[in-house]
Amino acid sequence: MAYGADLARLEFWARPPAERERVFAALRATGRPVFVGYSPDARQPVNGFFALTRHEQILEVSRNPEVFSSEPTATSLDDPPPALSDFVGSMISLDDPRHARLRRIVSRAFTPRMIKKFEDDVARLAAEIVDRLVERGPCDFVTEVAMPLPLTIICAMMGIPESAYDDVIDATSLILATGDPDYAGPDGRDRVSLLTEKFSFLHALMGELARERRAHPSDDLVTALVSAEVDGESLTERELGKFFGLLVVAGNETTRTALSHALALFTDHPDQRALLLDDLDARLPGAVEEVVRYATPVTWMRRTVTRDVELLGHTYRAGDRVVLYYNSANRDEAVFDRPDVFDITRTPNPHVGFGGPGPHFCLGAHLARREITVLLRELFTRLPAIHATAPPVRQRSSFVNGINQLPCAF
Ligand code: HEM
Repeated sequence: MAYGADLARLEFWARPPAERERVFAALRATGRPVFVGYSPDARQPVNGFFALTRHEQILEVSRNPEVFSSEPTATSLDDPPPALSDFVGSMISLDDPRHARLRRIVSRAFTPRMIKKFEDDVARLAAEIVDRLVERGPCDFVTEVAMPLPLTIICAMMGIPESAYDDVIDATSLILATGDPDYAGPDGRDRVSLLTEKFSFLHALMGELARERRAHPSDDLVTALVSAEVDGESLTERELGKFFGLLVVAGNETTRTALSHALALFTDHPDQRALLLDDLDARLPGAVEEVVRYATPVTWMRRTVTRDVELLGHTYRAGDRVVLYYNSANRDEAVFDRPDVFDITRTPNPHVGFGGPGPHFCLGAHLARREITVLLRELFTRLPAIHATAPPVRQRSSFVNGINQLPCAF
């Protein structure tokens, strides 16, 4: 397709980041949504979606959820295959009013006030992680530093026992890695069978926790989910499993990705590191926002058009799919001065790394900001020279801007 922007294919996302940025800059310059056609597999007809690459397009679409629906899915280019319908389709892929009713069950736990309550836990964990790092010496930053904090926090919020942490990470990592039509596992298995296995594990874990919490309620999120009523009814086992899956996947991978990018960015930009270290407390909040803008851990979300509509000069037809490329909006030269420059003093910084303004804006944004702030503060206070010793090994994904490995030393 035009500009070499074969956005539906993994090969495009395997290209070097600077090359991809050039393609997105060309797409933004067209000023209109660009149609991306592809065939999910050789037996099916060509499918397609409109790629939205400008900041203003993404804001407008996010603000109009009645026309740009999150159903049947926000997280997959193709509609979910019937084999997965029991597992996917929690609130991120539902519209109001049901979406709002589901979100209300858990939203209290993610308000700044509630997050403040376990700030001490986050700080203690961050200190333990850095203690272990100091003891161990040079190692893989992703598994030793970026992964444990968000994993432990979301698992503690859900009430997941420590013995299950490894399996939870294994499942959530794989679920996000398979967002692409041509994903095949290392053993050659197709994505649907891999996803079924990992989702089944998460649903079984939720089932066990739900039984336990019904008998012995506590103050964790699983207790909130099993005791909630939506439209006068309790959530079914399937709905509980989907909700649980969404929270653990969203709570883990994104923050880990942001933390890993932070180390890579402060390695590549010593001037920005010096600026940060010069006044850590004052500059950290801006640094966190700039890491999220620059790295954009979640690359896109999908919407489906509910009725014919004209928006910003383009006519959409009912049934059209649109994909909101947050990575591109976050480099939009119409909004950001020198968008390709990593600048922790950037103000304002109206990035859409946590989504656009609308009902689905990231539920975990306050939590993620706290986690990243606290860990970076601990790291740079105790190990100001910590740096990556090789370029990141990137995840092959169009959906998340993940980093699989990042060796570090200090
Ligand atoms: C740097 C870290 C994170 C990034 C970049 C991120 C990004 C996003 C994005 C782009 C969306 C979609 C917004 C939209 O469609 O408008 C989203 C939704 C969501 N995020 Fe995050 N997220 C992060 C951390 C977290 C954490 C720690 C949690 C904790 C559980 C979380 C939970 C969720 C949930 C539940 C939704 C769906 C909200 C809804 O549909 O109402 N996220 N996030």
